[in-house]
Amino acid sequence: MKKTNSSDSVQTQTSPAFRSVKEKNSYYRTQPDRRLYGRTMGRPLRPAQQALVETMLPRLEVFLPTPDGQAFAATDREKWLDSLFPAHPTAKAAPEIWLEVGFGGGEHLAWQAKHHPEIGFIGCEPFINGVGRLLTQLDQQGSQNVRIFRDDARFLVKALPDQSISRMFLLFPDPWPKKRHWRRRFIQPDTLQDLARILKPGSELRLASDDMSVLRWMLWQTTQCSAFQWLAKRPCDWEQRPEDWPQTRYEAKGIRAGRKPAFLRFIRRDF
Ligand SMILES: C[S@@+](CC[C@H](N)C(=O)[O-])C[C@H]1O[C@@H](n2cnc3c(N)ncnc32)[C@H](O)[C@@H]1O
Repeated sequence: MKKTNSSDSVQTQTSPAFRSVKEKNSYYRTQPDRRLYGRTMGRPLRPAQQALVETMLPRLEVFLPTPDGQAFAATDREKWLDSLFPAHPTAKAAPEIWLEVGFGGGEHLAWQAKHHPEIGFIGCEPFINGVGRLLTQLDQQGSQNVRIFRDDARFLVKALPDQSISRMFLLFPDPWPKKRHWRRRFIQPDTLQDLARILKPGSELRLASDDMSVLRWMLWQTTQCSAFQWLAKRPCDWEQRPEDWPQTRYEAKGIRAGRKPAFLRFIRRDF
């Protein structure tokens, strides 16, 4: 991927319908079934991270043309996606785009961005402290190929064009262990339909967890969706992290606590 003029990406995007956490929360209150669960803020950011949030984030932040990503024509979706990576103004020249949902502290996303400079990345994470950590890593390694969606990834997924994503990662998602909270889990039959729509045939969906209930849930839901084929043939296929799959903060934390991670790889079938 060519280096982009940093100001381009802001100017070509539609203005956000809402920006501040307060405004977002008031939006969610009016949309009870579209509420975002989980924190958007933790401790105050360190001054260096705060500075990056003010100077670097505006160049990288992705805003949706409509607040929930819907009611949006197919051709407009493509133009909007192209505008996020302005070094590639036509759909044909557009880079492959990989998506990470819930990147946490951004270790995995930063590693992928560094090792695949030709790929365009969109990372979703509403927790501003995680965004601050990712920005620090991108700044240190000089990566230009990452865009950040600081909101509920389900809205972004709704807005993305058909077959626009070449790889997707959902690593150690929030487990929501209580049965009454299972509907909050990211992997659900309707989300899988949306992922099947945006993923290119032959592309990879990578899921990981160290929580047995979540693993069973994700495996069951995904294998029930005819669009996805699980790639594992033997236990080592899910017990061992592939070399191009760096460890995340949550994985490391789980291992220290005695939990065992599993790594699930699926292919989007070509019907
Ligand atoms: C348990 S953490 C794992 C973080 C990271 N993937 C890792 O492995 O270290 C789950 C993350 O997903 C984010 N998250 C939860 N729901 C989300 C959603 N609907 N859209 C985007 N991010 C979400 C949370 O803010 C949190 O940072």
